[in-house]
Amino acid sequence: MCGIVGYVGMKQAQDVVIEGLRRLEYRGYDSAGIALVHEGDLATDKRAGKLANLEKAIAETPLPSSTTGIGHTRWATHGAPTDANAHPHLGNESRLALVHNGIIENFAELRRELEAAGHELRSETDTEVAAHLLESELATGVGLTVAMQRVCGRLEGAFTLVAVDSHDPDRVVAARRNSPLVVGLGDGENFLGSDVAAFIEHTREALELGQDQVVTITRDGVEVTGFDGRPAAGNRYYVDWDLSAAEKDGHDWFMRKEIFEQPAAVAAALLGRHTEDGRLQLDEVRIDDAELRDVDRIIVVGCGTAAYAGQVAKYAIEHWTRIPVEVELAHEFRYRDPILTRNTLVVAISQSGETADTLMAIRHARAQRSKVLAICNTNGATIPRESDAVIYTHAGPEIGVASTKGFVTQMVACYLLGLYLAQVRGTMYGDEISRIVGDLEQVPGQVGRVLERADRVYQLAEELVGAKAVLFLGRHAGYPVAMEGALKLKELAYIHAEGFAAGELKHGPIALIEEGLPVFCVVPPRGRDQLHGKMISAIQEIRARGARTIVLAEEGDPAAADYADTFIALPRVPTLLQPLVAVIPLQLFACQLATLMGHDVDQPRNLAKSVTVE
Ligand code: G6P
Repeated sequence: MCGIVGYVGMKQAQDVVIEGLRRLEYRGYDSAGIALVHEGDLATDKRAGKLANLEKAIAETPLPSSTTGIGHTRWATHGAPTDANAHPHLGNESRLALVHNGIIENFAELRRELEAAGHELRSETDTEVAAHLLESELATGVGLTVAMQRVCGRLEGAFTLVAVDSHDPDRVVAARRNSPLVVGLGDGENFLGSDVAAFIEHTREALELGQDQVVTITRDGVEVTGFDGRPAAGNRYYVDWDLSAAEKDGHDWFMRKEIFEQPAAVAAALLGRHTEDGRLQLDEVRIDDAELRDVDRIIVVGCGTAAYAGQVAKYAIEHWTRIPVEVELAHEFRYRDPILTRNTLVVAISQSGETADTLMAIRHARAQRSKVLAICNTNGATIPRESDAVIYTHAGPEIGVASTKGFVTQMVACYLLGLYLAQVRGTMYGDEISRIVGDLEQVPGQVGRVLERADRVYQLAEELVGAKAVLFLGRHAGYPVAMEGALKLKELAYIHAEGFAAGELKHGPIALIEEGLPVFCVVPPRGRDQLHGKMISAIQEIRARGARTIVLAEEGDPAAADYADTFIALPRVPTLLQPLVAVIPLQLFACQLATLMGHDVDQPRNLAKSVTVE
């Protein structure tokens, strides 16, 4: 949510900033803006709409040469996505330019105070208030770093701020509270970004910042302090992916590239997590075994796709460990005053590790002394940093706004956690665990086989262009898959889509079935309980009422094929692991249908990749 870039060095800051914004545009695309420091003055441009609008404006009216600059790509919170509300914002005297990600919660009272003191605010944003406060501090004679420390002390809410002062051309100062910011360490140049994609082209050396810190970058130095001005240290690390991971690699969309990366992503998520004989070794789980044995309840929290990964986890973890598992949307969790004890394990799932709702949920859980384990894809993000333990999903950067490889690897991490708990608590025999680990090791190849048949799904998308609504049905672990399939379609194709538990159909949703309505049906593998037969009955019932059935079932399942208008074959996998393969055609379908409808798949309307406001 909102992408931020800052640069000081020898290169043209405009090029570095615009390139950085391009790589961060997935975080928000309501407007884009840039500010450069040039001969004691500021040069800025900002435009509503996508970055391309800003680029066009700069091409028509070039900005002056400069080696210090900041930039912003916005997901609107306060104020409509207009030129005036776009960042950067300037202070009263236009001495200072500021970009911001987050929400300043006490902005209304600060705004009143500034207006009473004669400040003229030009936008509806909360950000502009901070720009004016900063400039007032500068007017007292302090430098930008001290001004930033003072102002941050007055702000409430979540924010990353990045500012330049036209009187001090070789310095960019930033601050963060509950909102992401990383420093890129170069040679004779330094960078700031909402995430490392902003500067990965220039350096893979990064510095992660803690909460409530201010950082000052110059060409040759990086200085970190607390809001109180006391020196602090960041945590230096090497980014283990490179520029190619942040490019589309011949695909039309990042999303499609990421869908096709899933065999490799699953393999990476499994790498080094077990011994040759299938014993789990999750070294990152820094909660000791005795405490894990005492866990008497698990609550999984997350938002959007991550919450669906949690629902899959519930089926697997309860089955393998017999520990009761609840799954809760992170934004609902803390407000219902959940019952949490020392023996509750809260599992927070978040691809970005920055989702504000999930972050607040884990803070609440830790305040009640529950242990928190994060499942996250982003090294050093706030959620894993604030958790007791973390399992990284190692999917590589996910740039498409709709999560794909993030989701699949979250499920893998949940399976690993479930098996690890079963191992520690002795609820499964070692050979059972190693058999399932063996099944997981087959998944990259099986996902690859589903992807080889992408054309069949693409053809289906062509047939369904113009559909007004689409339903998705599943049972057991296939139920969250159905909901994820529907979410993908809503996010990308803007079509009304719903995922239902197939058993619930007859209790209401069946009234929605009418002639020709497309219904995706995720059929569990044959042989387990009576799930398969019950699902087939549900398909018959909707087909009898005119639905167009698109049946996802294991290859060679004659009963499923008989009732399918379109049959999509899945490899044979155990029921609990089936979501890993069943979701793939649903991702491909949503991506292709949205493409055919002319939508921007990587930047769907109104959405942002990581939602860093509550
Ligand atoms: C946003 C994205 C979703 C994502 C959700 C949770 O809503 O649009 O695709 O599933 O956030 O994100 P997280 O980074 O916490 O997994």
